[in-house]
Amino acid sequence: MKMAPLWIVALLVSLSCFIDLRNSAQVVPSDGGDTDPSRVISIDCGVTQEIWDTNGFFHEADDAQFVESGKIYNVSSNDTFDYSQEQVSEQMKTVRSFPEGKRNCYTLRPKQGKNKNYLIRTFMSYGNYDNKSSIPYFHLHLGVNFWTEIKLENVSAIKRKRVVHVSPTNYIDVCLINVGKGTPFISLLELWPLSNSIYRAASSLLPLGLLTGVNLGMSERLNFIRYADDIYGRSWRNGKIDNSERFSTSEAIETDVKEYRLPTEVLITAVRPLNNVSSSLYINLTSINVTADSEHYVYLHFFDFEEHSRGQVRSMEITFTDTIREPVTLKYQDVHTLVKRIPKGVALTGISITSTPGSGLPPMINAYEVYEALPQPITPTHEQDVDAMRNIKHAYNIIRISWQGDPCMPKEYRWEGVTCNYSENIPRVTSLNISSSKLTGQIVPSFSYLMTLQALDLSNNQLTGEIPESLAELPNLKLLNLTGNNLAGTIPKALRKKSSLTLISDGNPDLCQADSCKTVTKKFIKPLVASLASVAVLVLIVCITLMLSKHKRIKKVLSSKKDDQIKSNNQGFSQAEVHDITNDYATEIGAGGFGKVYLGRLKDGTQVAVKLLSNSSLQGFKEFQSEAKLLSFIYHKNLVSLIGYCDDGDMRALIYEYMAKGNLRNLLSEKNPDILTWNERLNIALDAACGLDYLHNGCKPPIIHRDLKSSNILLSENMHAKIADFGLSKAFANDTDSHISTRPAGTLGYLDPEFHKSGNLNKKSDIYSFGIVLLELMTGQRAITETSDEGTRHISDWVNPKLEIGDIQSIVDPRLEGKFNTASAWTFLEIAISCITPEANKRPDISSVVIDLKHCLSLETSLVESAENSSLISTTTLETSYSQSGLSYSPPSAR
Ligand SMILES: *[C@@H]1O[C@H](CO)[C@@H](O)[C@H](O)[C@H]1NC(C)=O
Ligand SMILES: *[C@@H]1O[C@H](CO)[C@@H](O)[C@H](O)[C@H]1NC(C)=O
Ligand SMILES: *[C@@H]1O[C@H](CO)[C@@H](O)[C@H](O)[C@H]1NC(C)=O
Ligand SMILES: *[C@@H]1O[C@H](CO)[C@@H](O)[C@H](O)[C@H]1NC(C)=O
Ligand SMILES: *[C@@H]1O[C@H](CO)[C@@H](O)[C@H](O)[C@H]1NC(C)=O
Ligand SMILES: *[C@@H]1O[C@H](CO)[C@@H](O)[C@H](O)[C@H]1NC(C)=O
Ligand SMILES: *[C@@H]1O[C@H](CO)[C@@H](O)[C@H](O)[C@H]1NC(C)=O
Ligand SMILES: *[C@@H]1O[C@H](CO)[C@@H](O)[C@H](O)[C@H]1NC(C)=O
Ligand SMILES: *[C@@H]1O[C@H](CO)[C@@H](O)[C@H](O)[C@H]1NC(C)=O
Repeated sequence: MKMAPLWIVALLVSLSCFIDLRNSAQVVPSDGGDTDPSRVISIDCGVTQEIWDTNGFFHEADDAQFVESGKIYNVSSNDTFDYSQEQVSEQMKTVRSFPEGKRNCYTLRPKQGKNKNYLIRTFMSYGNYDNKSSIPYFHLHLGVNFWTEIKLENVSAIKRKRVVHVSPTNYIDVCLINVGKGTPFISLLELWPLSNSIYRAASSLLPLGLLTGVNLGMSERLNFIRYADDIYGRSWRNGKIDNSERFSTSEAIETDVKEYRLPTEVLITAVRPLNNVSSSLYINLTSINVTADSEHYVYLHFFDFEEHSRGQVRSMEITFTDTIREPVTLKYQDVHTLVKRIPKGVALTGISITSTPGSGLPPMINAYEVYEALPQPITPTHEQDVDAMRNIKHAYNIIRISWQGDPCMPKEYRWEGVTCNYSENIPRVTSLNISSSKLTGQIVPSFSYLMTLQALDLSNNQLTGEIPESLAELPNLKLLNLTGNNLAGTIPKALRKKSSLTLISDGNPDLCQADSCKTVTKKFIKPLVASLASVAVLVLIVCITLMLSKHKRIKKVLSSKKDDQIKSNNQGFSQAEVHDITNDYATEIGAGGFGKVYLGRLKDGTQVAVKLLSNSSLQGFKEFQSEAKLLSFIYHKNLVSLIGYCDDGDMRALIYEYMAKGNLRNLLSEKNPDILTWNERLNIALDAACGLDYLHNGCKPPIIHRDLKSSNILLSENMHAKIADFGLSKAFANDTDSHISTRPAGTLGYLDPEFHKSGNLNKKSDIYSFGIVLLELMTGQRAITETSDEGTRHISDWVNPKLEIGDIQSIVDPRLEGKFNTASAWTFLEIAISCITPEANKRPDISSVVIDLKHCLSLETSLVESAENSSLISTTTLETSYSQSGLSYSPPSAR
């Protein structure tokens, strides 16, 4: 029982995460220069499942998480053109088109969130997907403002568009606009996180739309280079300049240089004037129509790879349209990017690059890009209203063709049933009519965040539950029409007292209209269970709104609301109830460090696990209660969720969802006759990784588990894995300044070797523990095994010698009897080894582990179809990873 106070301490500390959430505006996420490919969102439009393309690039499923409307098409083989020179040829073979509605939007929600710099790209290739042989013309909007027109030259042309944008919101809408000249469609959509310091307009609010991006001196055989050559997903067209010659170097170049992170191919090739030292280079830009009515940005990229003889310099003068001049002197082996702003009023027709008189070397240039600063004449709707409207839409799953993008803007695309006040600078929602729309469930709190709402019509739906009192906090609400629903309880006093409000609530049989109604004493267990699902929705709404809200006023409204939600969704159980639920502690199902765990059953039959903590001398009574409530707000399908708690008399208990199949350690043990198949093991690994990803990257600030191990991974009846005991983790704001631990956490065998040095536990320590779990899954061995001769042996010491001789067969659990795929096993092992790299900073982020595990699973399935390809992929990835971890190995024989 000595552990108990520690537990409370840990719990309290851990929950500061949720408390901090409210102040998350102050939490600075990691720098935007994060180019981890797992952060890229790529959608191969028309393909509704996640796939790895033949270039080893991952594409998200093109489904409701991004877009809710449109029809998908295959481009028929008759019209499949030879795109063999294009890396994206595969992605052009399917499209999503939007025959309905004037505006249809993809909504992207990058993990890095708002105020980060992103590069967004679209690709369109018509390919006569609809057999109409009529090439459509349409517009693209970025958010509420015009981005670009889409004008395809011919049936097989690929139209690429690129924009760099610092998103002011956590989501980014890319909308296709039907302008009456054919049905809009899209073939590929990508979002790449960029460093915040590059491609920025003077006014940081203006997105930069690419007009042209050219690599000079590129080899003839290529039209374009892009991923994986370019870490930022830019593509570079192979371009030419009159009277120039290409020259190149074969010396190896460290590509990760300078902020623009130019691809090697751009750096090692360049052009110089043909045969004449003194003449100049001229880039003719007339073909791209750089108009004088907007601001432009030119990026000239130089890398001088020609060795200078003593005293020789390459100094040049750059002239933009005969008017703007800029001197440049290049140093040997130095990457230089010249950024030039071309103000409004100057029509950029060309750029000339001339060597200055003293220069001993001719002018040269490697690549150039021209961007237009896109004017933003339209102001989007108030962010709080947009969030509330989106939350309402998702809470009731309202699918309406007009309910896409911004609710009020542009005016002609306003959402049906919404009216807005446009008199101020920022439009606001003033009325909302979603009557007769088959809405079910409760009236969600999001309505109360529409601060300027005057009229709300929810009549003739199937809404249940009580009318939330928080609606009374809307200062301008004049009409609330709730007629024809199944609402129950009483009308809250605050609403009844609001004299300016007309409340229509007839046609709700269970709703008590009279003043004299006595509040029905609520039985909590049933509503508790019933509302578990809505907890998820609420958590989402609360999280999103909390993170987005900046204004004190909003915060105030929110914190008052939060208490309500806790009241209605998570309640304390009394001692007597815990006796009942556990049937007087009849079935003990486990014992953890903090007390025994009993099987229980709620009144509605739901099985639960009750973790008893029987120390009566606890302090921090109040805190325990409020923190336990908050803990239950952390909800994810791969995390064991807290249903309730007991804090009554001398009893403290936590009530968790029951996980029928027990913990992973027991399932892997020799005593378990039901041997987990390889496929099950892969799925368990992926589930657990997703749960950890949520703790690390879904929660701000991140939550560190601190005690991840196979016995903390539980399995449900249908073998879904969830992480348990994450409540003992401690939250902190920033991964880089890891905290000093308050208690010795971790379990022998799973503990980060760097912990002994630093005493710190951070995300990477969890990754280490996770790597050990992966090894257990793979080998069936325990993290630590007692041996007769050596005393104890760590699992990595068991794996490493076998790994060195490349003997995968002897590493994988012998009970699988060879029933696994070699390529997928190698990939899995590679992931595990990368996680347990001794140097913490070389371990991957859990988000890329998730991607790799998905890849591993796809190998397992796809290998059946094409053994050749997958083994190729697996071999290449192995080489990289092993060279990083410094282990020698012989390549696996995958076949
Ligand atoms: C496109 O082709 C794939 C594979 O040939 C097929 O599974 C899919 O159903 C097709 N989609 C449509 C919309 O025709
Ligand atoms: C297929 O291609 C041929 C030749 O290009 C063309 O004549 C024919 O109309 C096409 N068929 C369809 C269904 O588009
Ligand atoms: C277009 O024509 C091809 C070939 O006849 C056919 O396979 C495809 O289904 C047609 N697509 C549509 C959208 O009608
Ligand atoms: C289609 O247009 C592109 C230019 O966008 C051109 O390169 C290509 O040759 C054209 N293809 C045909 C078949 O005309
Ligand atoms: C380069 O061109 C200029 C003018 O066209 C000429 O005067 C000069 O002699 C040339 N130099 C060489 C080295 O050919
Ligand atoms: C640039 O190219 C256009 C045609 O594309 C041509 O008319 C014009 O003369 C060129 N400008 C210069 C300065 O060479
Ligand atoms: C450039 O502008 C001219 C005149 O406005 C137009 O005819 C032409 O199509 C434009 N070219 C491009 C590539 O946009
Ligand atoms: C719109 O908002 C302004 C400023 O808040 C207010 O004065 C005006 O009355 C509102 N208009 C309507 C039609 O509600
Ligand atoms: C309230 O809704 C009902 C049903 O939609 C409608 O008949 C009634 O006119 C509405 N009342 C007001 C004041 O809008």
